[in-house]
Amino acid sequence: MKKAGTPYACHIFVCSNVRDNPDKPGCGASGGAELKAKLKEAVNAREWKGNVRVSTTGCMGLCGTGPNVLLHPQGVHFSAVTEPDLPTILETVAGQVRQ
Ligand code: FES
Repeated sequence: MKKAGTPYACHIFVCSNVRDNPDKPGCGASGGAELKAKLKEAVNAREWKGNVRVSTTGCMGLCGTGPNVLLHPQGVHFSAVTEPDLPTILETVAGQVRQ
């Protein structure tokens, strides 16, 4: 095993998990995958590739407040994310990007 710090200035984790529980269907049922695709598009458009990574993640245990997005290593968590929130998330990421 090799231990190292994250290679990214910001790693955006977007929960896209779909649960079997109809009372808590999970982030994937409330747009997680679509949000991830839009964030990835935005990261590519800004030429942040290599500095910023967008990844799908499984359940973060906060299903009742999804879709959930986590910025690592900043430890910033966004809940109940909708498409109009993406500029705010991207603005937060922009502050982390190495120039
Ligand atoms: S399904 Fe997204 S936090 Fe549980």
